[in-house]
Amino acid sequence: MKISFSPFKMPENGTLVLGVLENKKFLPLTEQVDKDLNGLITKAINCNRFEGNNGETLELITPTNTTLSRILLVGMGNPKDMCETQVENLGGAIYAALSMKGDEAATTAIGSIDCPHFKDEAFATCLARGIQYRSYRFDKYRTTIKENKKPSLKQVNILTKESDAAQNLYTQSKGIVEAVAFTKDLVAEPANILHPESYAARVKELSALGLKVKALGVKEMTALGMHALVGVGLGSAIETQLVVLEWNGSNNPKDDPIAFIGKGVTFDTGGISLKPGAGMDEMKWDMAGSATVVGTMIALAKRKAKVNAIGLIGLVENMPSSKAQRPGDVVKSMSGQTIEVLNTDAEGRLVLCDVLTYCQTQYKPKCMIDLATLTGAMIIALGHEYAGIFANNDELADQLIVAGKKTEEKLWRMPMEKAYDKAIDSPIADMQNISNDRAAGSIIGAQFLNRFVNKDIPWAHLDIAGVAWTKKDMPLSAKGATAFGVRLLDKFVSDTYEQ
Ligand code: BES
Ligand code: ZN
Ligand code: ZN
Repeated sequence: MKISFSPFKMPENGTLVLGVLENKKFLPLTEQVDKDLNGLITKAINCNRFEGNNGETLELITPTNTTLSRILLVGMGNPKDMCETQVENLGGAIYAALSMKGDEAATTAIGSIDCPHFKDEAFATCLARGIQYRSYRFDKYRTTIKENKKPSLKQVNILTKESDAAQNLYTQSKGIVEAVAFTKDLVAEPANILHPESYAARVKELSALGLKVKALGVKEMTALGMHALVGVGLGSAIETQLVVLEWNGSNNPKDDPIAFIGKGVTFDTGGISLKPGAGMDEMKWDMAGSATVVGTMIALAKRKAKVNAIGLIGLVENMPSSKAQRPGDVVKSMSGQTIEVLNTDAEGRLVLCDVLTYCQTQYKPKCMIDLATLTGAMIIALGHEYAGIFANNDELADQLIVAGKKTEEKLWRMPMEKAYDKAIDSPIADMQNISNDRAAGSIIGAQFLNRFVNKDIPWAHLDIAGVAWTKKDMPLSAKGATAFGVRLLDKFVSDTYEQ
């Protein structure tokens, strides 16, 4: 998608996008065009259910004596309520309304209006990012797709008084769009293509961005005593990997890093505790937590964030085979604690526990945030609107929740306490990887991880099982991978450590 910015000038062809505020209040330019077209816009609104609420769209065909092919009205709601994400959402709504209509070019004339939070260039930039987020597609394996089933829209010109400033700001800030697309690509890839080895190779290429990347294989992990993580991959023909990404952007190179940790199960069959067949294909995205960590590190590197950060991802395929671990096996984790693996399908926690220990022994993290599609129970609890956040530190939890509100990647705090923790005491080892019943499944997963976290380190666990993939179109993502967390964590870093 090509985006350009230019000063106000009416386009001669393609689609013209005009804005309407809540209660059908026209922007000045909408008013002008309505007059020029003898009230066509007023008429269209009056015979449709269009109020001007944020994100609503209405398409009009123009009269034969104009060269424009259509007008798209976009509802903008109340400009006083508008924040960056809502403007991005407007961009997403515009793309979604126009992408398949046949026009190659569109011009938006929805300006920055009288919006207290925005300068013209910031408004135009957010609009551009929203268009780009929503235009993401994963088409690489579709070889017979017909021309008329591909998006027609190739180019959007954004009219703004401050076109040069907008172009500069957009160029500076579009790294996050590329980071989100990279994450969506990883999540959408099928598991025969993206497995631990090929995934590690893809991440190594990111050293071109100034990230330091290293990968540990099974030999090194075994030497470190990471038998919980290595145990998950025993049934797979592909070698388990631990990949570490470092971004050193702080003015003080000795600054302790922020640590992001991700579950990267490239396919989760359940192992010997095999999952049922229906819907098992979805388990190709059981590596979404790790993909969000990778995307976040890309975003930080691309905007040269003034922080030190590390990303650690445990990449493993959970397969049944004669070499796979069995229910009832006992493994020793890197921390020295032993785990009775009662269910090989509760593998995410076995991956993360060793990565958490590795992080705390090799680095001195200021805080640790892990992301994982950890439990189906998270979907039962919160559905697909919120991800669950579990934390040992209220300040960290609040910072993440605020960043989630701003980016509309929403987090809901879940409880943790000793009473839940008891449920994973094992009669033959230090702990078992599941409780004996189905109660509070997501909290149990978090309590397990908590046993591997030093109390002095602020830690948060984000269970993204319900939000990493969407079956319905969202403002900034069509059906498929959402890259949930990349925008949130980027915002968290800038608000918390760079202000
Ligand atoms: N990857 C799954 C969790 C999951 C389920 C993510 C659905 C996304 C959608 C995880 O490894 C798992 O299988 N968890 C088990 C845990 C149980 C055995 C305690 C679950 O949720 O059933
Ligand atoms: Zn599982
Ligand atoms: Zn899993």
